[in-house]
Amino acid sequence: MNALVVAALALLVVTTTPYVGYLALYAWVQPAGSPADKQDWEPDVSIVLPTYNEAQIVETKLDDLLKLDYPMEKVELVVVDSSTDDTRGIIREYFEDLDAPELVLLEEDKRRGLAPALNDAYAAASKEVVVKTDCDSKLPPDVLREAAANLADDDINAVTGRNVEVLGGSEVESGYRGVQSHIQQLESHLDSTLIFHGPFSAFKNDALLPIDPNSLADDTELALKIRRQGGRVVFDPAVTYMEASFSDFVKRRKQKDRRGMGLIRLLVQHRDALGKYGKYGQVVLPFNWWFMIVSPWLLAATLVIGIGAAISVFGVVGVAFPAAVCVFAYLGQSDRLGPFQPFYSISDTQVSLLRASVELLRGKTDGTWEVDSELREAFE
Ligand code: GDD
Ligand code: MN
Repeated sequence: MNALVVAALALLVVTTTPYVGYLALYAWVQPAGSPADKQDWEPDVSIVLPTYNEAQIVETKLDDLLKLDYPMEKVELVVVDSSTDDTRGIIREYFEDLDAPELVLLEEDKRRGLAPALNDAYAAASKEVVVKTDCDSKLPPDVLREAAANLADDDINAVTGRNVEVLGGSEVESGYRGVQSHIQQLESHLDSTLIFHGPFSAFKNDALLPIDPNSLADDTELALKIRRQGGRVVFDPAVTYMEASFSDFVKRRKQKDRRGMGLIRLLVQHRDALGKYGKYGQVVLPFNWWFMIVSPWLLAATLVIGIGAAISVFGVVGVAFPAAVCVFAYLGQSDRLGPFQPFYSISDTQVSLLRASVELLRGKTDGTWEVDSELREAFE
């Protein structure tokens, strides 16, 4: 057999084996729901909301928060605002004739980036449970109760949830989120999950720790640090939120690449955690290293060598292989792959992770970004 063919097949086997292993583990553990011993609990809650030029949607966000099924007398809203538009004016006016929730408004004169802003907000949060949410995420009324029920378990220090409906209707993103939520359930049942979702996460106040001011993955960083301190951080599919996303290949890159960069950098910074902290360091972290750092390069190599192998074996007819890959990508980004859409979604994420690795190697790590106004339109 042709050496290129052997190499391509070998690479394919190496790349897919850990995924097959994880699927087998999933089938064995059969994780369902949250591992927490959930109980009704109604603690005082600080809701932390960072804002940067959100004048377009902040009022809708506040309406949404007031619709939560929770006694507002028990809620404190901590906004940290770094805007140059009128966001804080709108917020102040909104709260003028409102008795509850109580508003704590932290005003920054200069934008320093999300992580330092959040550190201030977390330090100001005074209630027993602290929730972090983004301006461009929608929350269902039951979300605080579901989150609190998880935190009622003494062993659980933080909980995040599932993106149930991708605003703007991107099938690419929802396909990926579906796969991701199964992985996160498995991780939570084994020990703790790695990825925490900024649109909605909840923490016990006494578990909070400062995050790296340059962080591009503040929520996951916080969860990882809490786990390293001996806490347990889980994913509960009953805790839900909605967030806007694009399907278009090019539009997706900006946000996904940045998030990928933040996560990869975080894993590398905390590489000493590998192998420690029970199954978290023995299974969860290695799998995420594989998925985020190793597998994107292997997949790219498989593709390149696979194309070489196809052409060397079939000559011109072998061009059908790269052509098929292009058709797959084209149909995938326009949400037309039907049942195969999740496979495209995973490839799309792998593309971002590969690009993120390259950007990191090139030394690009800016801590601020453009807030996407097109995504805001889906929210209104
Ligand atoms: N105060 C403050 N200062 N808020 C900011 C800043 C800043 O410099 N930059 C962004 N924000 C606010 C936005 O107004 C929004 O409410 C939230 O932070 C998230 O910003 P987006 O622009 O929507 O970014 P995203 O959707 O890609 O953010 C995701 O990734 C981040 C980490 O990479 C979310 O999951 C975030 O929660 C997460 O922190
Ligand atoms: Mn966002």
